[in-house]
Amino acid sequence: MEENKFEGIVNLAKKRGFVFPSSEIYGGFSSCYDYGPLGVEMKNKIKNFWWQTMTRRKEKVFGLDSAILMAPKIWEASGHLAGFVDQLVECKNCKKRFRIDETQEKKCPECQGELTEPKNFNLMMKTFIGPIEDKASITFLRPETCQGIYVNFLNVQRTMRSSLPFGICQIGKAFRNEISPRNFLYRLREFEQMEFQWFCDPGKADFWFDFWLKERLAFLERIGLRKENIRVFEVPEKERAHYAKRQIDIEFKFPFGWKEIEGVHNRGDWDLSRHSQFSGKDLSYFDPETKKRFIPYIIETSVGVDRLFFALLCDAFEEFEKGRSGKGKEKEILLKLSPLVAPVEIAVLPLVQNNSGIVKISREIFESLQKEFLCFYDQTGSIGRRYRRQDEIGTVFAITVDFQTLEDRTVTVRDRDTMKQERKRIEELKDFFREKLRYF
Ligand code: GAP
Repeated sequence: MEENKFEGIVNLAKKRGFVFPSSEIYGGFSSCYDYGPLGVEMKNKIKNFWWQTMTRRKEKVFGLDSAILMAPKIWEASGHLAGFVDQLVECKNCKKRFRIDETQEKKCPECQGELTEPKNFNLMMKTFIGPIEDKASITFLRPETCQGIYVNFLNVQRTMRSSLPFGICQIGKAFRNEISPRNFLYRLREFEQMEFQWFCDPGKADFWFDFWLKERLAFLERIGLRKENIRVFEVPEKERAHYAKRQIDIEFKFPFGWKEIEGVHNRGDWDLSRHSQFSGKDLSYFDPETKKRFIPYIIETSVGVDRLFFALLCDAFEEFEKGRSGKGKEKEILLKLSPLVAPVEIAVLPLVQNNSGIVKISREIFESLQKEFLCFYDQTGSIGRRYRRQDEIGTVFAITVDFQTLEDRTVTVRDRDTMKQERKRIEELKDFFREKLRYF
């Protein structure tokens, strides 16, 4: 574990308004987090880029937004009621509970006490529908969003008049009663997933698996994760999810080790045949070309928004003990986020706040650019300190309005990564930023 880096990221996230602990004034609520002003912008950019890439710019891929609460029978059919379990052990001494894979040599990781025998623990969050809390009114908060896609498979196929293969995308909340949530945003009880399901002819499933895996790896690089921090792990049969014929975990190198951020699964005909069986509705597809009827296979890609967000912070975080120049006295942080996800794109900084001409032009620039870009206006503190504050949150460019601006209507534009400053005419700023910041 790179303890310092992990701590540094968690502290920065809180201090600069990316992520706050949930219910903080009540002492916090473990495993849930709130996204602050910068966090929500960054999260929205991640979701938007995924949606653009996976739906809007693909032919025959359609969007969906299904309900979180669904008929409880769905969870019987999906296999989650019987099979979505982790093995739990309890320490006989301190009474803490752990997933079996977190313990070594059958000893409590906290106090070395003796552990109980493992028992199965279902991860689904139970709730009641309606005013009576009896067995008949039990349902579950969805542990994965994709079941809402499967039960709408025919609705989408018919309304979009789509032939196979085609895809459905969804972004939404999922809930799991994790035994030991940990590592900040890595394992949560409430989180968000971006899931894509590709319905295809069983004979072509292997081809599509490789195709979508490649697409997803390209996406992760495009959004800003370094190639050397990503790897794939072919999950052996006995460790696969209950629905998976083939499973690849895409892993990222977090400060606490290589961990999954995205799953690519060949779910075969598991989901559609089970829903056909449990609902009594035929979910098979008739291929007008081959005149054959079959249950489509599903290739799934599933990535957690929170995990990807966290991975992006880890990948972008750099700390300089003696400042970025190497000669300073204070520690400095640089968050080298891609413009695709940076929560602030341009900071507008008047050099001084007591000159009405400089402030007036700064306000005009800010108000004009804010219509198109994510901008931040800051006039307090020394200019050096203000640059550092922007470097810490990943702001891509900083504009400084100074005394020369009053004479020739030029400003300096500072590049976050190189710290180089260029003078530009105010009139050319929009085109310059359009070229640098509009990636898609
Ligand atoms: N529909 C398939 C599915 O849900 P999964 O591997 O269980 O597969 C997919 O989850 C992704 O969802 C994971 O790779 C991860 O990014 C995210 N995820 C799963 N459980 C999570 C949790 N407890 N906290 C945060 N993200 C989680």
